[in-house]
Amino acid sequence: MTETSADHNDGDDATDEDGTLYERLGGRDAIASVVEDFYDRMLDDERVADFFEDVDMARQRAHQTQFLSSVTGGPVEYSGADMREAHEGMGITDEDYDIVGGHLDASLADAGVADTDREAVIAEVEALRDPIVGR
Ligand code: HEM
Repeated sequence: MTETSADHNDGDDATDEDGTLYERLGGRDAIASVVEDFYDRMLDDERVADFFEDVDMARQRAHQTQFLSSVTGGPVEYSGADMREAHEGMGITDEDYDIVGGHLDASLADAGVADTDREAVIAEVEALRDPIVGR
């Protein structure tokens, strides 16, 4: 049997018989638009907006798009800081993390991402909770 990229399965959660999670999300443009919506929600939410007060949001959106593309199995190299360094010293709590994760979940749902794929993205970022909150 020949294996194509569409049926490749390396056992990674981000990959199954329907291709990579990146492909199922719709690739680069679809992920960039989820990220746009995600940071719009963050900046509209007074519980977390202040964290981004001095942040270059164009760069932030670009790095987040790269980051989510790469953790979902896309052919994209993430060029930002690692998750522990990027969030160090900000005093991010589990509650903050839950708010942010909730916005990402809502942005994925609004973009029409299938429930199983949405849950897979959330699981990929949930795995980064400890370094993000500094544990
Ligand atoms: C939900 C999981 C999260 C992911 C996947 C994530 C991802 C990222 C990425 C990729 C960057 C860019 C780093 C760089 O440009 O080098 C970043 C930066 C940042 N993140 Fe997060 N993040 C998450 C949660 C949070 C939370 C909970 C907060 C605060 C409530 C937060 C606040 C920030 C801030 C303020 C920056 C900008 C740092 C700077 O440029 O100085 N992030 N994050």
